[in-house]
Amino acid sequence: MSPPSLHASTHPLVAHKLALLRAKTTEPKQFRELVRELTWLLGYEAMADLATRPVEIETPLEPMIAARMEPKVGLIPILRAGLGMVDAMLELLPTAEVWHIGLYRDERTLKPVEYYNKLPDAATVQVCLILDPMLATGGSSAATVDILKTWGAARIKQVSLIAAPEGVVTLSAAHPDVDIHVAALDSHLNERGYIVPGLGDAGDRQFGTFAGPASEPGHGSDDETAEVVRRLQRDLER
Ligand code: PRP
Ligand code: URA
Repeated sequence: MSPPSLHASTHPLVAHKLALLRAKTTEPKQFRELVRELTWLLGYEAMADLATRPVEIETPLEPMIAARMEPKVGLIPILRAGLGMVDAMLELLPTAEVWHIGLYRDERTLKPVEYYNKLPDAATVQVCLILDPMLATGGSSAATVDILKTWGAARIKQVSLIAAPEGVVTLSAAHPDVDIHVAALDSHLNERGYIVPGLGDAGDRQFGTFAGPASEPGHGSDDETAEVVRRLQRDLER
């Protein structure tokens, strides 16, 4: 059962673009364009409940009370795959602050390893939007939320293109207050922790960094990694 914090888009345009993104024949150039377009659409949905405040303006015809977005928003792309989502969000929110967090997933343990964090001492924004195309085990996302909560962020949302049920359960169990906006909730993780059917490696597909058959998602497996995935899948059944 999906937690209430999960918002999976039902928009046909999102479904259409996601199909193109997933296809293995889609080359990095078109892949990057689709990441950008999907982020635009998901960002629009993710910001639907942000507060506005009334402002007086004058149209050419008369004065009126209009609305202005109230909270200061921070975009938190997780390096490196989240980088491709930043420009689209900045088109929607040109005054947003961008705070990068560097995490990579240890391919054996599937645990996140932090390597870049230049957040100042105290939070400078009220709402943080974590940008990462893939929510797989949920480890990278949960670790980022921990960092942002320690920083003092009042409200946090995760914006991802594809999530696995295992990752949604992990993130929502650790942080039930974090809204999770996705284009699709997929079937499961494979024994290497890749989302199935997914789209493969979002970073490699954006940046054209294909290192050969050993790095192909779903090829080859390590006992330790497979056990991590089985444990997550047992948690899901509870
Ligand atoms: C991918 C993805 C997420 C993470 C998701 O990044 O962009 O950050 O894996 O996995 P999780 O939910 O199991 O933590 P990766 O570690 O491959 O780094 P990259 O963006 O530098 O390629
Ligand atoms: N990271 C990716 O890029 N893809 C997955 O399926 C899982 C983690």
